[in-house]
Amino acid sequence: MQRGVVESTSTKDNMSMVKGYIFDLDGVIVDTANYHYDAWRKLANSLGFDITEEQNENLKGVSRKESLEYILRLGNLNFSDDKKSEMAELKNTWYVASIRNMDKSELLPGSENLIEEIKEKGLKLSLGSASKNSVRILKATGLIDFFDAIIDGTKTTESKPHPQVFLLGAEALNLNPEDCIVFEDSINGVKAANIGGFRSIGVGDKNILSEADFVIPSLDGISVDKLNALIYQNNN
Ligand code: BG6
Ligand code: MG
Repeated sequence: MQRGVVESTSTKDNMSMVKGYIFDLDGVIVDTANYHYDAWRKLANSLGFDITEEQNENLKGVSRKESLEYILRLGNLNFSDDKKSEMAELKNTWYVASIRNMDKSELLPGSENLIEEIKEKGLKLSLGSASKNSVRILKATGLIDFFDAIIDGTKTTESKPHPQVFLLGAEALNLNPEDCIVFEDSINGVKAANIGGFRSIGVGDKNILSEADFVIPSLDGISVDKLNALIYQNNN
């Protein structure tokens, strides 16, 4: 691992070899985070206010319903449950329109290579995403068959930073949290991984993802060996 590329804030010692890899979807595997942001902004704009990029960091990783609640709090607005369902549906219609032609070109650099390598090495792989559109996206990008388990917003009742999505992922892989690493681009996702007892790899800006055990700028050039070197060099 090149100096300066990776930042470690790890405090988790004596953890076992990595057997399972749990990937967030939006912003880690696929470049969809901006489509979510655009659709939420469009909704907020229709209500007379805007969402900053900083505020959007708090929306990443959060379920559709919780995201809407956060946005309405920003606008100091409240609506009936029926109206809120209508708004969430509208946002999803806009979002789905923006991913309707999705293909491999939307994959973020390095994600497909790493996923393929994990499978080739016989290691375990799960999705851990809040999205209810995950199966659609994994099919459109040709990655769905690589996953041993897909835990997403259709299977969870709690939103990140609650660790439920990752705990269900580890359980589906028949592994303990300490056997797994979680890749996350969101503050809430990193918190969820840490709370659940997973090793957290922040993928993105080290200033934003400072709570992660390790931060890498992207998955580009990341291999199983590089990850092991990163984790064990820092912990041993
Ligand atoms: C997360 C995204 O992966 O999924 C959030 O980071 C999004 O921005 C959430 O709101 C829910 O996604 P969806 O596709 O079910 O609306
Ligand atoms: Mg994400």
